[in-house]
Amino acid sequence: MADAPLMVADAPLMAGKSVLVTGGTGGLGRATATGLAALGARVGITGRDQARAAAAAAGIRAATGNTAVAAFAADLSSQAEVRRLAAQVAGTYPRLDVLVNNVGGCWAHRHITADGLERTFALNHLAPFLLTSLLLDRLIASAPARIVTISSGVQARGRIDFADLQGEQEYSGQRAYRQSKLANVMFTYELARRLEGTGVTATVLHPGVVRTSFGAEDPVAHFALLVRVAGPFMKTPAQGAAAPVYLASAPQVEGVTGRYFAKGKPKTANRAAYDTAAAARLWQASAGLAGLAAP
Ligand SMILES: NC(=O)c1ccc[n+]([C@@H]2O[C@H](COP(=O)([O-])OP(=O)(O)OC[C@H]3O[C@@H](n4cnc5c(N)ncnc54)[C@H](OP(=O)(O)O)[C@@H]3O)[C@@H](O)[C@H]2O)c1
Repeated sequence: MADAPLMVADAPLMAGKSVLVTGGTGGLGRATATGLAALGARVGITGRDQARAAAAAAGIRAATGNTAVAAFAADLSSQAEVRRLAAQVAGTYPRLDVLVNNVGGCWAHRHITADGLERTFALNHLAPFLLTSLLLDRLIASAPARIVTISSGVQARGRIDFADLQGEQEYSGQRAYRQSKLANVMFTYELARRLEGTGVTATVLHPGVVRTSFGAEDPVAHFALLVRVAGPFMKTPAQGAAAPVYLASAPQVEGVTGRYFAKGKPKTANRAAYDTAAAARLWQASAGLAGLAAP
C-alpha cells in the first residue's frame, strides 16, 4: 500500500519525541504512525510479521521523508511476545513520549491464544494493559508523556461480565468486542487516576467508522454487512487517524487526562466506565491474567 505523501514540516511539533504505535502495518495504526512521523517524531510501529512491518515502516519513511521510523514484530495476543516487545522498545528508545495502543480485532468465533485466553479480551484489553504496564516507568521518566488508547463507539453498549470475562459460558463476537472496548475506557480512566501527579496522561477515543481491514480474519456478520453497505461513506484511515494524532501531539490537550474523545471532542462514555470499584476490580483481574503482581 502506498501512503499519501505527508512530508515533515520545517519546525515539526513532535521533533525530539519518541512514539510507539501498535499495529502500524495497516489501517488506523499505519495512518496514525504516518501522521506522527510527519510531525517529526521518532516512530516505532509493530505488526505480527517482521517483513510486513519493515515494509510498512519503509512506506512511512518514503511518504513523510522522516527516516526515524522503525519496525518491531510481535503477536500481541501472546503475553511472552508483549514482554519481548516491551523489552525491545525500552532498549531502543531511551525516552518514550507517547504510546498509542491501537491493535484490536473482532472475531465471529471464539479463538484461544497461546496463553489459553479468549482472543478478543486478550488482544484488545490485556495486551495494551500489559504493554502499558511494562513501559510505564519509561513513560514516567519521559514526562510529560501521553498514553492514547483506541476504543470504539460500541463501548457505549458494552458490559463487563465479571462472571464470564472470556465468554467461556457463552460467546458472541459482538459482545466480546463491545466488552473489550468498554474495558479500554475503564482501563484508561483507572490508569489516569493512578498516574495523577506523574505528568503522564491517559486518553481514549473512538476514531469514527473507518475503512480498514478490521475484522477480516473471521468476520462478524454485522461488521461485514456494515462495510459492504457503508464502505464508500466510511472515513479513510487518514481521517480516522486525526483523533489519535491530535491526542498524541496537540498542545491543546497537554495535561488532559482520563477523558474519552469522539468526533474530536471529550464525550461522556458508558455510565459503567465511571464505576471506580468496577474499574479497580477489572484492573485486579487483568493484572492476575497478565501475570503482573496485583497492585
Ligand atoms: N475501523 C473502524 O471503523 C474502527 C472503529 C472503531 C474502533 N476501531 C479500533 O481501531 C483499532 C485499529 O483497527 P483497524 O480498523 O485499523 O484494524 P486493521 O485494519 O485490522 O489493523 C489492525 C492492525 O493491528 C495489527 N494486528 C492485528 N492483530 C495483531 C496481533 N495479534 N498482534 C499484533 N498486531 C496485530 C495488524 O498488523 P499485522 O496484520 O501486520 O500483524 C494491523 O496493523 C482497533 O483497536 C479497533 O478496535 C476501528
